[in-house]
Amino acid sequence: MIRVGIIGVGTVGSSVVKILQKNRDIIWARAGKQIEVAKGVVRDISKPRDIDIPLTTDPFEVTDDPNIDVVVELMGGVDKAFAIVKRALQNKKAVVTANKALLAYHRYELQQLADDLPFEFEASVAGGIPIIKALREGLSANHIEALLGIMNGTCNYILTKMSQEQVSFDEVLQEAQRLGYAEADPTFDVDGFDAAHKLLILASIAYGIDAKPEDILIEGIRKIDRLDFEFAQEFGYTIKLLSIARRKNNEVELRVHPTLVPKSQMIAKVDGVMNGISVIGDVVGETMYYGPGAGGDATASAVISNIIDIARGGKCSPMLGFKRPLESGMRLAAKERIEAKYYLRLVVEDRPGILAKIATIFGEFSISIESMLQKPSSGDLANLLLSTHKCMEKDIQKALHELTQQNFIKEEPVMIRIEE
Ligand code: NAP
Ligand code: HSE
Repeated sequence: MIRVGIIGVGTVGSSVVKILQKNRDIIWARAGKQIEVAKGVVRDISKPRDIDIPLTTDPFEVTDDPNIDVVVELMGGVDKAFAIVKRALQNKKAVVTANKALLAYHRYELQQLADDLPFEFEASVAGGIPIIKALREGLSANHIEALLGIMNGTCNYILTKMSQEQVSFDEVLQEAQRLGYAEADPTFDVDGFDAAHKLLILASIAYGIDAKPEDILIEGIRKIDRLDFEFAQEFGYTIKLLSIARRKNNEVELRVHPTLVPKSQMIAKVDGVMNGISVIGDVVGETMYYGPGAGGDATASAVISNIIDIARGGKCSPMLGFKRPLESGMRLAAKERIEAKYYLRLVVEDRPGILAKIATIFGEFSISIESMLQKPSSGDLANLLLSTHKCMEKDIQKALHELTQQNFIKEEPVMIRIEE
């Protein structure tokens, strides 16, 4: 028998409790031991719940209970969760967490604290997809050339609905919240931070990179408009929030942003709450992982797989995939040197000479225009939708700055990177 304490019995925690009961026999057979939930921790004990386990509001009742073998942290947040997980490890408990925000900031300290204790976090990236096992174990013979994916179910749900139906951003967000996909604070989803937290976790396993969210390029989906989908449609693209890691020699580019992706690519077909991650290894080539990236049951599936691993008592893999530092040492590439093709949406005065002025500004920064489309706006304004050939992030940023100084530009320009 293995006894589990669950800190946080909300969307994910309550699914864990129910699935441990529903699939009790197969889990017992696979783990070789029965798994019992000894206690759960919640903030508000008076809330009605559809699970029947002993509850407390004090997380330390779980971390300090000598009868509990595994502490499962499913409450979210960074500072308090860090203090609780730290205490569990100090008390020599095995830990399972789905908390990517915690890991985005503290994964290396936690690795050190855990030392030989099992510390598992499969559910922290891409919900039900076993991407951490794939990267840490299945692909461990490879240099990872690139990994690229849709890692936030809420944003993918919103972008899919916006591209297929006439629905507002706010309506779709509320639906994602109701379905249990969104974070407690959904700005983490729509502003790209949740996807960045996941990318940072995978970048540690793939490259041994110790970066924080503040160090990398992160843009969310708030500025995306239906017009951008019209351009995408016209030129054979769709728009996805991509998390991208790409290695160039000893440097790794890490970025999260809305991206125009050719419709023919597999990643473009990952719709709704689904996540999809493509990993390119130097030995294996491209592999792709697809599945539900959010929601109570999908996430609980990954959490319970970690509890089963611990119950089996086998040696868990090194927490972040490396037993010793990489001799060649990988560095984070500077944001300004990222190279991409760009799409821009400009609301401009619709009069002679404006296009020439825009082309001159691009020319000054050696940016070459690839395609262009003009759509009427209200009054004497027009929407210019254009894409560029490949150029550097620092040049497009300078060109954008110059454009915003012009009085014929009537709204803040929207820029979306293109990945082909
Ligand atoms: P949730 O529904 O908001 O549940 C959080 C739970 O933690 C609730 O039971 C809450 O108590 C409890 N809690 C929060 N703060 C507490 C505190 N200070 N003291 C005691 N209890 C506290 O969140 P969730 O969606 O299940 O997410 C949990 C974790 O899993 C997060 O780290 C999240 O990022 C991660 N995750 C979620 C998903 C998903 O699809 N939802 C997917 C992957 C990973 P009350 O019930 O009393 O409010
Ligand atoms: N809020 C996250 C998402 C949950 O929408 O993908 C899964 O990590």
